[in-house]
Amino acid sequence: MMIGLAKEIKNEEYRVGLTPSGAGEYVAAGHRVLVEKAAGEGAGFADAEYRARGCEIVTDRKKLFDDSEMIVKVKEPLPCEYGLFHEGQILYTYLHLAADLEQTEALLKKKVTAFAYETVMEADGSLPLLAPMSQIAGRLSIQEGAKYLEKPCGGRGLLLGGVPGTAKGKVLILGGGVAGSNACRIALGMGADVTVMDISAKRLADLEAMFGSGLKTLYSSRENIERELAQADLVIGSVLLPGALAPKLVRKSDLAAMKPGSVMVDIAIDQGGCFETSHATTHTEPIFTVGGVVHYCVANMPGAVSLSSTIALTNVTNRYGLMIANKGAMKAIAESAALKSGLNCFDGKLTNKAVAEAHGMGYITI
Ligand SMILES: NC(=O)c1ccc[n+]([C@@H]2O[C@H](COP(=O)([O-])OP(=O)(O)OC[C@H]3O[C@@H](n4cnc5c(N)ncnc54)[C@H](O)[C@@H]3O)[C@@H](O)[C@H]2O)c1
Repeated sequence: MMIGLAKEIKNEEYRVGLTPSGAGEYVAAGHRVLVEKAAGEGAGFADAEYRARGCEIVTDRKKLFDDSEMIVKVKEPLPCEYGLFHEGQILYTYLHLAADLEQTEALLKKKVTAFAYETVMEADGSLPLLAPMSQIAGRLSIQEGAKYLEKPCGGRGLLLGGVPGTAKGKVLILGGGVAGSNACRIALGMGADVTVMDISAKRLADLEAMFGSGLKTLYSSRENIERELAQADLVIGSVLLPGALAPKLVRKSDLAAMKPGSVMVDIAIDQGGCFETSHATTHTEPIFTVGGVVHYCVANMPGAVSLSSTIALTNVTNRYGLMIANKGAMKAIAESAALKSGLNCFDGKLTNKAVAEAHGMGYITI
């Protein structure tokens, strides 16, 4: 199969869909890999490293899209890229279609066979292609939150871990899945006072077993959220209903009860955000303030640590990407239920129920 590795053009997105060694695995399996010139530069990978593994460097991006049967990316295509796709072309990337009607309509119109990393689900309910980015976003959320709690950055001037004789910063984590548990790990490591909330009793039990009594766990009810918000210095939004829009757990009216200069990091912004006052931001302008509360809502947080992210991403995406390349999309989904759940669009129709429901559209099962 002809595989095209396109350069990311989203603002401050430095990741790339394949490391040179990951691209080399496609070549070793008998495929041709076209790499857009300088595609790996932001993650620290030179064109020469791809060339050394048998990939071909392409300067003309239109030609790369025209010639490729499968495009491998990191982020969803931007409006200026919609026109580059052709009917039947396979797209293998993060898509987050539930939060993006325009992109959904564009991929359907172009009849792209679109696989979304974030909906590839294994039989145990795990999301293997989302996990490494969620791990990174979870860990980064505390690093960034701690920074924006600093006075010059707009925060209340609080050191998250405190020092002997001062109170520790209070961290409230909404959603204790992959991102949330990684946020717990870093926040506890920094010495903060950490509470995590989830609607899954099993998840809360697992978290307690993982981190011990230093971590407070609470069921995610409206009453508990309201009470904890008033105490929190840093709130992390890390909930997920796979494929669907995130539930709005923090309402605009809740902000009045929060401490001025407290910080909220909405990791779930790529699924529409779990705070009512969130809107997506970029690494160039990551924050805004509503009602005295600093909001950090960067939709591609792992892009800031592009080297770690690109390696972590290729480690997990290659297995499924190679299945698609080796067998073709239809045979691959027939043999892998995980890949089947990753398929979002086929032949102009939606194939993911949650995405279809988010847009009030119909869907088909393959
Ligand atoms: N902004 C970014 O750069 C970035 C990067 C990676 C992941 N993400 C996003 O982070 C979010 C979390 O991803 P994940 O991999 O940790 O998901 P996950 O499925 O591992 O965890 C989500 C958790 O949310 C819990 N949950 C669901 N509804 C809840 C509610 N009402 N209250 C409390 N908890 C609730 C679930 O029980 C689950 O434990 C997703 O939206 C994902 O797309 C964003």
